[in-house]
Amino acid sequence: MSISVALAGKGGTGKTTLCALIIRSLIEEGKTPVLALDADPNSNLNEVLGVKITKTVGSLREEFKRDAPRYSKGMYKDQIVEMNIHQALVEGNGFDLLAMGRGEGPGCYCYANTLFRKYIDVLQENYNWVVMDNEAGMEHLSRRTTRDIDFLLIVSDFSPKGILTASRIRDLALELKLKIGRILLIVNRVNSELDVKLIESIKKTGLEILSCVNLDASISEMDLSGESIFDLPSNSIALTQVKCFVRKLVSEIGELKGDWLKKG
Ligand SMILES: Nc1ncnc2c1ncn2[C@@H]1O[C@H](COP(=O)(O)OP(=O)(O)O)[C@@H](O)[C@H]1O
Ligand SMILES: [Mg+2]
Repeated sequence: MSISVALAGKGGTGKTTLCALIIRSLIEEGKTPVLALDADPNSNLNEVLGVKITKTVGSLREEFKRDAPRYSKGMYKDQIVEMNIHQALVEGNGFDLLAMGRGEGPGCYCYANTLFRKYIDVLQENYNWVVMDNEAGMEHLSRRTTRDIDFLLIVSDFSPKGILTASRIRDLALELKLKIGRILLIVNRVNSELDVKLIESIKKTGLEILSCVNLDASISEMDLSGESIFDLPSNSIALTQVKCFVRKLVSEIGELKGDWLKKG
């Protein structure tokens, strides 16, 4: 059974960057293979991970819908979908990436969609950890088939307003009745000590803080030069902080043997 981590948060808070940092940390901790799931249609997780994508689940689903009437009777649709998903899977060093592409639209429970979701669920079982980058909204998560989320990490910027938005995202996740083991907060791009006001606003929301991640100049440099997360120097402060909380998550999973997970 793989452990799944999903990142959520307002646009620009650093979800994609943290997702990539978590993936690098898991690889360096030997928790391979890792499946990176890019569930943000406008995302660039592949660029940050330094790999190219040619097909997405969304584009394959459209092809499948278009071509389905032409498939010969002897060919099982399930097999076709399974083959297609492998076409969209990009291999990296220690991880694979699957980009979801264009969303299926609200309330899309069509046959093709259900088949694709079923195979993504099956595929996830081949990995140790699954790390999912998301767009700000989370409705699409409620349309997953059987998979639950072990850790939902909500990313906020370094402001009381940002913390409030993070708590609204938590409320939405609860409202959607997503099955989540733990919901934890990450405050990103921190450029000074957490002040009393910010600590108070976090307390008020009842959100549990997993970690702060500093504003890191080496990430801005990486971004500007178009390098990948694997080019980031190993003494990068953000990488060190992410590695630290990833170890925490790994050891919690180990200690508790997953008993507390998937409680819903
Ligand atoms: N800890 C950090 N230090 C410096 N820059 C960061 C940090 N986290 C994210 N960024 C930068 O902030 C911008 C937005 O980050 P991104 O991960 O794309 O956000 P999101 O996926 O939430 O929209 C990017 O330019 C990224 O390089
Ligand atoms: Mg993003």
